[in-house]
Amino acid sequence: MVRATMTRVFSVVVATMVMILRVASHDYANALSKSILFFEGQRSGKLPSSQRMNWRKDSALHDGDQIGVDLVGGYYDAGDNVKFNFPMAFSTTVLAWSVLEFDKFMGPELKHALEAIRWATDYFLKATSVPGFVFAQVGDPYGDHNCWERPEDMDTPRTPYAVSKQYPGSEVSAEIAAALAASSMVFRISDPRYSSTLLNRSTMIFDFADRYRGSYNDSLGPWVCPFYCDFSGYLDELLWGAAWLHKATEEPYYWNYVVQNIHNLEKNVVLNVDGTPYEGGSFAEFGWDAKHAGINILVSKQLLMNGTYNSDPFLSNADKFVCTILPESPTKSVTYSPGGLLFKPGGSNMQHPTALSFLLLVYASYLSNAQKIVHCDDVVATPSRLIQVAKGQVDYILGDNPLNMSYMVGYGEKFPQRIHHRGSSLPSIENHPEHIDCKGGTPYYTSNDPNPNLLIGAVVGGPDVDDSYADSRAEFVQSEPTTYINAPLVGLLAYFKEHSSS
Ligand SMILES: *[C@@H]1O[C@H](CO)[C@@H](O)[C@H](O)[C@H]1NC(C)=O
Ligand SMILES: *[C@@H]1O[C@H](CO)[C@@H](O)[C@H](O)[C@H]1NC(C)=O
Ligand SMILES: *[C@@H]1O[C@H](CO)[C@@H](O)[C@H](O)[C@H]1NC(C)=O
Ligand SMILES: *[C@@H]1O[C@H](CO)[C@@H](O)[C@H](O)[C@H]1NC(C)=O
Repeated sequence: MVRATMTRVFSVVVATMVMILRVASHDYANALSKSILFFEGQRSGKLPSSQRMNWRKDSALHDGDQIGVDLVGGYYDAGDNVKFNFPMAFSTTVLAWSVLEFDKFMGPELKHALEAIRWATDYFLKATSVPGFVFAQVGDPYGDHNCWERPEDMDTPRTPYAVSKQYPGSEVSAEIAAALAASSMVFRISDPRYSSTLLNRSTMIFDFADRYRGSYNDSLGPWVCPFYCDFSGYLDELLWGAAWLHKATEEPYYWNYVVQNIHNLEKNVVLNVDGTPYEGGSFAEFGWDAKHAGINILVSKQLLMNGTYNSDPFLSNADKFVCTILPESPTKSVTYSPGGLLFKPGGSNMQHPTALSFLLLVYASYLSNAQKIVHCDDVVATPSRLIQVAKGQVDYILGDNPLNMSYMVGYGEKFPQRIHHRGSSLPSIENHPEHIDCKGGTPYYTSNDPNPNLLIGAVVGGPDVDDSYADSRAEFVQSEPTTYINAPLVGLLAYFKEHSSS
């Protein structure tokens, strides 16, 4: 009784706060366009004539030459010039999911979103072109991180790293399989041949990942740890890959695989990206390392729509995930800054508000179609409440925060000026054609001047838990953009562009 009353009082308070905090609505269409443009700034390889981020030029045109495999293309992961295929594949899977859910709201940006996906899938076809091997990374991360160089000037070792039958890497392989399967659905109508090439490769790489099980942690050791060390194990990627392959092929084999393995996944202790045990339960995690919540939400669509599937434990896990996030939930396990930004332990925090809000939005749309709601003990969460929470995070990123600052470069009046990004912070090739070597970039890194090249659309790691932001290149935890911060935001912005009054 007392709790019921408290709940009601709380909802009134929340509703009032929302009304007070509501400022002029954001230009979501503009932010959507920029969030996709960002990926052009991260391109590696030979740039096409349609390239719009013009201060960037061709780079890393000889990746793979030393072993006779064409590994040109793909994306630089963040502010450095390494191609880390594990997070790159995750970003691609989520970009494809954004398009699969929200393409009808993307308008003229859909074309650019497809280009962004294809830039990755063209590269993944190369990275999986040698039978028995999957390339996991290109670029010696120690050599790269020791220098502050433009990608166009790079003279650090572009070492290719592969996993194989003998030295397996099931997480990186299965995530690439997930990216290829999700992308095959994106191109199914517009380019059926390409779509079936992607799907065929996905099935082969999933089989490789499953048959030769192991973590690339062990196979590639210090070349992947501590950079994109796989803390959560590889079973989550195998299930995630199988779930995407089931969606793409409708083969019962993949569904049975998910059902037979899900309980083993739940037994795992999940670790945060900094390696400490996560207390919220494995169902609460979604990011480049842990796919757990993504698996449950992804399969929930068919479970909510079709009673012939056994929904245990997927739907209850999806509900539990929601209850770890909602601010009013009694089982909330994330924290919120005083200004309202969602926080989880580990670095590059902004990846959490974007990825988790994306799942909330997607789940809300599935729940809404099935006319279902979520119960967090005696707190009721309707689909529109889930959407409201997701929108609050997006609006914080775009400027509704105590600093009145947008965390997307080039959006709004006040945005990060000194992002931790080599290409953005060094003069462009056009303005400074002379080579800048490894240490030649240091004065630009340490300078207090704003970056000369705007990496439009880049969303940075974001403010501290007290809503403060240093805007300093050296504070890379706050000032570095990554592809996996932006990928889920693409879907969110497409939705809010069409539904900004909700
Ligand atoms: C995929 O392609 C290979 C070679 O082109 C072919 O042998 C194989 O049957 C295809 N697999 C599927 C599942 O279509
Ligand atoms: C990967 O390495 C990290 C750090 O050494 C370790 O904590 C983690 O358990 C490893 N993961 C796997 C799947 O072996
Ligand atoms: C539900 O799923 C089963 C098994 O895949 C399928 O045979 C059936 O047609 C589906 N029903 C609906 C209404 O989608
Ligand atoms: C942010 O904007 C609000 C409303 O316009 C204003 O009251 C507040 O002082 C601003 N804060 C900062 C740090 O500029």
